[in-house]
Amino acid sequence: MQSSLATINTPDTTRHFSKGAVALEPLTLAWASRRERELVIGLAIREGRQTMNLRTMPGAELFVLRRWDGRFAGWAGVDVRSDPEHPELFSQFVYPEFRGLGLGGLLEHVWWSFLDHAGCAKGFMRMELDSNDALCERRLASGYYRVVTAEELGSRFVGACRKCELFGNACGRQIFLEVDVRKALAASIRSRGPLDIAALPMRISAGDRQLTAALEEEAVQ
Ligand SMILES: CC(C)(COP(=O)(O)OP(=O)(O)OC[C@H]1O[C@@H](n2cnc3c(N)ncnc32)[C@H](O)[C@@H]1OP(=O)(O)O)[C@@H](O)C(=O)NCCC(=O)NCCS
Repeated sequence: MQSSLATINTPDTTRHFSKGAVALEPLTLAWASRRERELVIGLAIREGRQTMNLRTMPGAELFVLRRWDGRFAGWAGVDVRSDPEHPELFSQFVYPEFRGLGLGGLLEHVWWSFLDHAGCAKGFMRMELDSNDALCERRLASGYYRVVTAEELGSRFVGACRKCELFGNACGRQIFLEVDVRKALAASIRSRGPLDIAALPMRISAGDRQLTAALEEEAVQ
């Protein structure tokens, strides 16, 4: 677990990123540009994360938490077009120095808002159990996730895993989850208020643990 004050090294200075009341590094939540998408593929590979969706799925869309210097605090992907019956959520990632601040929850909030806006009642994700056991348990305990079988999902969704660099290798025990979008969105709104997906890009402040007042109304122009 991180200490209450994480230190982030930047090229020119050392900034302190507080978990207390004061936000010291503003972030921008935005849809990734084409260049950023390519960058994230490289960064994800470096982190040992899968890049199958971004590399091979035509409908895969990516949003990022952009830092002041153009680097990223994290990112996540969503795809409602490649397999419309199974809208997919993928590649949620927050860099370790930014974890525990509520940013992972914020990325999920974007997922639910986006899916709800697109008229999707369900979302689906692939998870690897050995490295994500605790997270998986937490998700299942939330009341809006359930385990879904490969048979229920069908070969189109499940077969895409074969294009993944982790398939049969780093991805040992695989699990598929289905999320009830309305319930998940309601939980996110209870945590930090509504998020207008049409307002991206937007500035966020990551000072408060739960990012309650984190979503500034004002969109970044
Ligand atoms: C998972 C991840 C995105 C969470 O990011 P984060 O910014 O730390 O998340 P948050 O601060 O919003 O945490 C939200 C809650 O989830 C919990 N949580 C976060 N990561 C967890 C994990 N791996 N296992 C169990 N619980 C976890 C936090 O403890 C927190 O709970 P609380 O609010 O009750 O204290 C981040 O740890 C990460 O990038 N991990 C590596 C990539 C990964 O595993 N992605 C998910 C693949 S499906």
